[in-house]
Amino acid sequence: MAEARKKCLTGIRGLDTILNGGIPVGNTVLISGSAGTGKTTLSIEFLVHGAIMGEKGLYISVTEDSGKLVENLITYDFFSRENIQKDIIFIDIPEIYEKLGLNKLQFNIEDINLLIENIIKIVKEFNIKRVVIDSITSICYRLETEEKIMEFILRLGKALQEFGATTLMISELLPFAKGYSQYGVEEAIADGIILMGNYERRGDLLRTLRVIKMRGTAHSRATYVLELTSIGIMLVPLLKNGGE
Ligand SMILES: Nc1ncnc2c1ncn2[C@@H]1O[C@H](COP(=O)(O)OP(=O)(O)O)[C@@H](O)[C@H]1O
Ligand SMILES: [Mg+2]
Repeated sequence: MAEARKKCLTGIRGLDTILNGGIPVGNTVLISGSAGTGKTTLSIEFLVHGAIMGEKGLYISVTEDSGKLVENLITYDFFSRENIQKDIIFIDIPEIYEKLGLNKLQFNIEDINLLIENIIKIVKEFNIKRVVIDSITSICYRLETEEKIMEFILRLGKALQEFGATTLMISELLPFAKGYSQYGVEEAIADGIILMGNYERRGDLLRTLRVIKMRGTAHSRATYVLELTSIGIMLVPLLKNGGE
């Protein structure tokens, strides 16, 4: 029998079943969707479940101040236990940029190397097994060219995989965008893509989730309704014949 890849349990209700046991360890997964679709909540819940299972998490905040983010997260029951928060490291990327002297709008290859080295250093120092970059879109903005975006995502993803860390990269989409990422390169090189969206039904705007691709495992490609509850995300099948 073929050997299955080791899986990283997301702990999110429904998602591990959809993924046949979780995300293959070491994968770099794009979490794509427009604003408010639940990308940040999903990725934080992924880190929280890791912390409960004894795996340390790193959340790299690019667009939002992490102090403010934590304040908002406290309103969720799943996040309010202090003992799990200590196993998640929150870092604001502007602080890294400043430390490394990357106070410029466009990064060159040396800057990219410096940034990757620094992230890996943190991952090694704290024995991080789950990484979230929220969002990769904002980092790509400073990389500008497809070549540099590819270089950054591939090299960082490979280094994290060698360390046995599983990574979620958040991809910000405009509401009616085609594809799964702003530059197109991100989706081509990611090991997996999870698409989050909206679906209007009988005057309600439902949140949806669908796994588009996941290297290393079979998975469902059905659309699920995503509910954001105080205890976390719940996924239930979208009943297409549920009455339009
Ligand atoms: N305590 C809470 N319980 C349930 N839903 C919440 C809570 N706090 C925020 N939300 C919902 O989460 C949404 C934001 O989700 P978020 O994960 O930040 O989306 P994205 O990162 O895709 O922009 C809010 O618009 C709100 O509807
Ligand atoms: Mg967000």
